[in-house]
Amino acid sequence: MIYYNVEKNEDGIFLIEEHYNPKFLLKTETVFSQCNGYFGIRASYDSKVINENRGMFVAGLYNKAYENEVMELVNCPDIVEVQLIFNDEKFSIDTSELLEYKRALNVLTGELTIHLVCRLKNGLDVKIYSSRFASYHDRHLFCQNVKITPLNRDGELTIVSGINGQITNSGVSQFKQIGSRVYDKKYMSMMAYLTKDKLSMMNTCVMNPNYEKSPDFVLKRRSIYAKYKLSVKKNQEVSFTKYNYIKNSQEINSLNEEDKKRVLDTCIEKGYDVLLKEHRDVLINMWKYAKIDIKGTSLEEETAICFAQYHLFGMMPYEDMKLSVAAKGLTGEGYKGHVFWDTEIFILPFFLYTFPQKARHLLEFRYHGLAGARAKAIDYGYEGAMFPWEVARDGDEQTPLYAALNIHTGKANKVWSGIKEHHVTADIVYAMWKYYTYTNDERFMLDYGYQVIFEAAIFWYSRASYNEEKKQYEILDIIGPDEYTEHIDNNAYTNYMAYFCVKVAKKLANELKIKNLAVFEEMNRNLQLEIRLKQWNDFLDKIYLPIPNQDNIIPQDDTFLSKKVLDNIDYYKQCDEKQAILLDYSRDEVVDMQVLKQADVVMLLNLFPHLFSNEVIKENVIFYENRTIHDSSLSYCAHVQALANIGETDKAFKFFKKALEIDMNDNPSDSTDGIHSASLGGIWSSVILGFAGVSHGQNYIEISPKLPSNWEAMSFYMNIKGVYVKISISKEKIILECERQLDSAVNIKIYDKEYKLQDTLIHEVYTK
Ligand code: BGC
Repeated sequence: MIYYNVEKNEDGIFLIEEHYNPKFLLKTETVFSQCNGYFGIRASYDSKVINENRGMFVAGLYNKAYENEVMELVNCPDIVEVQLIFNDEKFSIDTSELLEYKRALNVLTGELTIHLVCRLKNGLDVKIYSSRFASYHDRHLFCQNVKITPLNRDGELTIVSGINGQITNSGVSQFKQIGSRVYDKKYMSMMAYLTKDKLSMMNTCVMNPNYEKSPDFVLKRRSIYAKYKLSVKKNQEVSFTKYNYIKNSQEINSLNEEDKKRVLDTCIEKGYDVLLKEHRDVLINMWKYAKIDIKGTSLEEETAICFAQYHLFGMMPYEDMKLSVAAKGLTGEGYKGHVFWDTEIFILPFFLYTFPQKARHLLEFRYHGLAGARAKAIDYGYEGAMFPWEVARDGDEQTPLYAALNIHTGKANKVWSGIKEHHVTADIVYAMWKYYTYTNDERFMLDYGYQVIFEAAIFWYSRASYNEEKKQYEILDIIGPDEYTEHIDNNAYTNYMAYFCVKVAKKLANELKIKNLAVFEEMNRNLQLEIRLKQWNDFLDKIYLPIPNQDNIIPQDDTFLSKKVLDNIDYYKQCDEKQAILLDYSRDEVVDMQVLKQADVVMLLNLFPHLFSNEVIKENVIFYENRTIHDSSLSYCAHVQALANIGETDKAFKFFKKALEIDMNDNPSDSTDGIHSASLGGIWSSVILGFAGVSHGQNYIEISPKLPSNWEAMSFYMNIKGVYVKISISKEKIILECERQLDSAVNIKIYDKEYKLQDTLIHEVYTK
């Protein structure tokens, strides 16, 4: 069940929290965050409350506080807090009587609003209405407005707000030095220094009705504030607006203090509403192509889908090609802001089909990380590029070696995924291949793609072991996507993905030799491609690829099917607490059971839907789902897609409902340290790749919808070869309409019919 209420009107689609609920404090801070791809700010209240966890995260701003730590996304100084003091009583939601309350996120515009009517201990009733947004028009800008109205008497109001550099990452202070100052009795500025980077923040506040006297400024350790004291009349509204400008070290030098002041002055001239409109216009343009219209769906589902897309927009680093998307986006400290396979497999498809340039950008990031991937391969005794399991800004491995302490033994559990989970190196190649075959972007391949793909294939060849007895290559001692199964041999997902990677590399190398001999020869000199091609041929001939057994089950690995089954798995499936099984069993015991944390073979069926028959797919999804706890948020959406692809839409829809709720369910402990980026990408994929049946191969795009029974029709846009194409699916027709004529016709498959699309295409009768 979605915890929040939903509402739709001409201003947008809203997620609403109708009552103050301290239990949901941290979750709602995450879920309602304002993110514009450059920075993200958690939706904390303007005034502090007990147990809050304020957070601002700037894309790419990582730091390593101590030598034995890994890089983490820095929790930056807070710019949101506004202290309100009425006749010497400091306002806080914790200590006032709440007469009215409503906190709402407009998922179409990203604006957050908080409406409060409170009775203070001193008897004053006051209305406080605040709103804020992270601008898409100028991604360095964060605007906040607070309107304060005393309702039952006149009084003295003090407003204090500025920049608070005392924020830490869960107690770890990242900034080694902070310098603050005031310019022109108007602008507050803070420069915060990390080990390598810097962050510059400047803000200014405006009072309305015009408050002539300039504020008093207060400089405290690592913080700076403006303080306004004013007399307010009963029912007189005071409006306080704060404009914040944020820049990281790469950009600071391009803007001096005078420039920043000018930017802020322009903001003052325009005012909150005009700036909001400018921001909204950019988003509206993005929604024009991103919004999915579904007839027959509930408002809750529609809101949850838009919510997923709102956050997908917010996590994309639009300007910096050397950044990617973190597992928690820019909404929390979870996973220390690291990037996982989540990006290529779960998040990228949305960008690929809707904004292909952005997908390119995410893939470029991996090219820039090649040095780290090569270093990791060498460290582990392999060749080529072995991409790290977790990365931050550069490509070096950032997976912590140890996880949290076991509170009973005081010993830390080793994190094996950084050491043994290798499939990410094939996942990246899969994503690059998908990008290339969808866009034909040869420039991307020449600049980035070939290099990454060839080096990844070199890694896989060196990673495999040749089993003399069986005359086959095997991949031993590995972890597949299911992280409850460690140190196993021949994980089906990994073996197939490695096979795919090497197959693609071989094909591309052979084609390159014909298409562009000069480039081939240069790469051959650096990577010995001719020798590699021979190795790859051998690998492709002899790699062991598990096939369905006599019961139609594809073994997840060599030993999985011989392990014992956990009888009471349903208890853990239904448990509110994630990973509760690890409280009852040691990790080694779990590894020895047929228990999955998340989709594994099911992921394989998803990425290669034509590898096995529908019957095999169905039986495997059922078999493995019975053994899956879904302790990872990546799991439900994978099941939706696999089932939708074979037309099992009712079963798929049950998992879809669960996927929609991952960040918005009524479990207060979910999402507290950040949203689940991959799952949000998975929601989009469930709708478009699953129910709408969109996929593509080399030289064709397929649209074979399998709509859930309650969906009467749906429409959405795809960017095909630079042209936006509207796809409308109903029970009678599938219509493709190009915004402008395509330069050359594109092959389209709809079920088993083949078409050429250049302008408009109509497929009559939606039945299989
Ligand atoms: C999952 C991984 C995932 C990571 C980040 C883990 O719990 O098992 O598959 O990449 O979370 O989302």
